[in-house]
Amino acid sequence: MAVYRIVEVGDPVLKEKARRVPRITPNVLKLLDNMADTMYEAKGVGLAAPQVGVSKRIAVVDVGHGLVELINPVIVHKEGMETDVEGCLSIPGLKGEVPRYVKVKVRALNREGKEVEYEGEGLLARAFQHEIDHLDGILFTDKAQNLTKIKRGF
Ligand code: NI
Repeated sequence: MAVYRIVEVGDPVLKEKARRVPRITPNVLKLLDNMADTMYEAKGVGLAAPQVGVSKRIAVVDVGHGLVELINPVIVHKEGMETDVEGCLSIPGLKGEVPRYVKVKVRALNREGKEVEYEGEGLLARAFQHEIDHLDGILFTDKAQNLTKIKRGF
């Protein structure tokens, strides 16, 4: 188990478009494992590789129903819109209301290099969209309709 340092807003890696993963290597698997450890340690529901300083199209999500690992994820279907509050491990102390699709279908590679699809609704759909935005250098503060300061640790 290894926990990475989470990069915070202001670091240029968070604004970059991350690179596609050409093949699954032992390093990619190690990155997935350590990203999951880092997300759980930070009590987050999602983490994208740029948030640990790695500009690759990899993310992990767990909204309480199990770990989802995403390599080269793409949204292939989207439905409805709703606005809800979200935050980001890379932007401590801020929350904002962000409009997102209610339901999405995401196509990605799993750790075996097999193409898989995940359907998400509500919080899971929101987490998928938030993390995939990270891979394109987009932060929730770029889309938030308003931002509120919160106490750390809230
Ligand atoms: Ni985030």
